[in-house]
Amino acid sequence: MTWTDLGPATDFPDGSQRCVKHADHPLVVMNVDGTLHAVANVCPHAGLPLGEGERRGLTLTCPYHGYTYSIKDGRDLDDPEFGQPLRVYPVKVEGDVVRVDLSRPGGPDG
Ligand code: FES
Repeated sequence: MTWTDLGPATDFPDGSQRCVKHADHPLVVMNVDGTLHAVANVCPHAGLPLGEGERRGLTLTCPYHGYTYSIKDGRDLDDPEFGQPLRVYPVKVEGDVVRVDLSRPGGPDG
């Protein structure tokens, strides 16, 4: 794992949804009830940004065509069997710094 700093944890308060970019990795980082989730800010459907999408619980709906994804495992909830999953990344807080592992995107199978 290669952990990358995203900034102080205070930048990601409970209920927040922030777009951040590190190197070539645009991300959406969300704090849901004190747990951080990081997903690619690239919708698998047509490659448009998800950052302004509506989050409800552990789901994020793309603002362009309405596809909904799990932010926990990236599953396409409109078509769980055949839909292209959203990339999700391991994220943690160490000390007061948020870190993400960009080397290991996950999905429903990983
Ligand atoms: S680009 Fe996201 S649903 Fe089409």
